[in-house]
Amino acid sequence: MAIPEEFIQELKSRADIADVVGSYVKLKKVGRNLMGLCPFHNEKSPSFSVSSENGFFHCFGCGVGGDVITFIKQIENLDYVDAVRFLAQRAGMTVPEGNRNDGLTQLRSRIYEANREAARFYHKQLYSPEGREALAYLRGRQLTEKTIIHFGLGYSPKSRFELVNHLKAKGFTNNELIQANLANQSQRGNPFDRFSDRVMFPIIDLRGNVIGFGGRIMTDIKPKYLNTAETPAFNKSRNLFALQFAKNKANGQLILVEGYMDVIALHQAGFENAVATLGTALTQEQATVIKRYCDEVVLCYDADEAGQKATTRAISILRPTGINIKVVTVPSGKDPDEFMKSYGDQGPGRFRMLLEKSGNDVEFRLNKLRSRYNTDITEQRVEFLTQAARLIAGLDNSIEMDIYISRLASELNVEKSAIKQQVRRFSRQHFREASQREQREIRAQMSADHDRINQEKRYHLRAANAEEALLALLMTNPDIAARIFPKLPAEQFMTSFNRKVYDTLKRRFDNGFDFTLTDISGEFSNEEISSIAGILASHPRENHPETAASEYIQVLQEESQRLTPEQLAQADDATILEQLKMLKEKKK
Ligand code: GTP
Ligand code: MN
Repeated sequence: MAIPEEFIQELKSRADIADVVGSYVKLKKVGRNLMGLCPFHNEKSPSFSVSSENGFFHCFGCGVGGDVITFIKQIENLDYVDAVRFLAQRAGMTVPEGNRNDGLTQLRSRIYEANREAARFYHKQLYSPEGREALAYLRGRQLTEKTIIHFGLGYSPKSRFELVNHLKAKGFTNNELIQANLANQSQRGNPFDRFSDRVMFPIIDLRGNVIGFGGRIMTDIKPKYLNTAETPAFNKSRNLFALQFAKNKANGQLILVEGYMDVIALHQAGFENAVATLGTALTQEQATVIKRYCDEVVLCYDADEAGQKATTRAISILRPTGINIKVVTVPSGKDPDEFMKSYGDQGPGRFRMLLEKSGNDVEFRLNKLRSRYNTDITEQRVEFLTQAARLIAGLDNSIEMDIYISRLASELNVEKSAIKQQVRRFSRQHFREASQREQREIRAQMSADHDRINQEKRYHLRAANAEEALLALLMTNPDIAARIFPKLPAEQFMTSFNRKVYDTLKRRFDNGFDFTLTDISGEFSNEEISSIAGILASHPRENHPETAASEYIQVLQEESQRLTPEQLAQADDATILEQLKMLKEKKK
């Protein structure tokens, strides 16, 4: 698993952190650093800082932080080696072979290979005599040749052994086929094809890996769709169907639909910014991914009850990300695929019109609310207005609020000021609750990080502060570090976490290696690296590093001689006198 030191060095020099982070987060220069909205928690004002100079990021809001490799590990959800690969690929470098890392990563890449081969196999079957019906089915659904090829659609043959035999002949093991969920296991333990007699939709991630499949039956038999189960390579809640195409066509906007066929029909009609979840409701993780590629989402779910429920749910997940939300309801209960089919050549133009007159999420929710009341009856009108005021109070844009208040006032013939007052009351309550919640979360997060990573800090606050200042100094001033390491034994560090960091730096120094955050990130967990980045972020560059360093070392020496309260209780008189003398000297 060890990647050669020189390679990491080279990678580090090529993968500038500001550049890498900048492709996920909009950054603005503030002083020596760059600031932006943290991609790891929801926030409205930027507390996420990136230091190009020192090669680290840190969020003052939620406490995450680290170097460029940690960043990729967390945002792409990769392990260390995969994150290095990811960055290497981006920088046009190849990770030296021969260190083909741990089992899981290796299995995952075998699954990608098996899936790719399966996709090829299914696609070929579509054009074989056995696949004739499937091809006719797809054509019957008005898909063109070009679309079928573009999406790599296929057919899984009836016999339960064809894919398994094909892949085994290509060198894949039973275990790999089962782990990929391309095969199920018979009672005797033999693998047999999971998908049989279905039209196949390969699911491809942003790096072009085939991660799984959806398979549709061509009859009325249930289940209509069968999807790949969770595998080491397939996570339904993190991926979106067709995002690999849509991300390049987004231009600020993605259309979110329910099914594979809706996506495909829209792409064919020229709306190549359509994506779908993988047979599940929209998740928080998917919302985060979506936010990375656009500022506006158009929800275009089915017009039925389930679709409307899903819309409400999706709004509540997308709202907190600050993304613009539009809602399109396709008329006469059709889904986008049926819509395109029924309008033929006119489909694209008509769908464009639907997009143009789509309402936003607030209108959608207000309409939905109104449909529950008969506003001709006074009591119900009052109740509707109260609920509507509560909804409006949850918005965070005062112009937006004013618009809806005006609209409601004139529609329902009530004084604008009355609704306004009601809204104000709810928003105060809302604000109070939200800020209390935020404070609680931040506090919990900070103290949890603290306690977890350096549990001794609270007992040795002064020493730990000096230790941290020293660590920051050493990491950002390698020139003075050369003079300090020989003078400062690790035993001088009182808290064991800081001692461990110092030890690592010193060991690297002794062996002639660099010791920036990036250099050491392979030796610490994500949480530990976050904590070290936090230390760096809270210690700005010193103008006289060497003087500062000797002051901190002085503090460490004093603190190491100081007795703990327990020791003090058992100490003899002479020792106590000694301590008192030390305290007095310090005061001078
Ligand atoms: P078509 O009938 O082929 O047009 O599909 P649809 O997209 O109109 O189907 P529907 O609206 O019923 O389903 C939307 C999405 O939900 C599909 O694309 C699947 O991802 C998923 N889905 C539908 N039926 C099933 C099922 O039986 N099992 C599972 N696991 N997922 C399903
Ligand atoms: Mn459909």
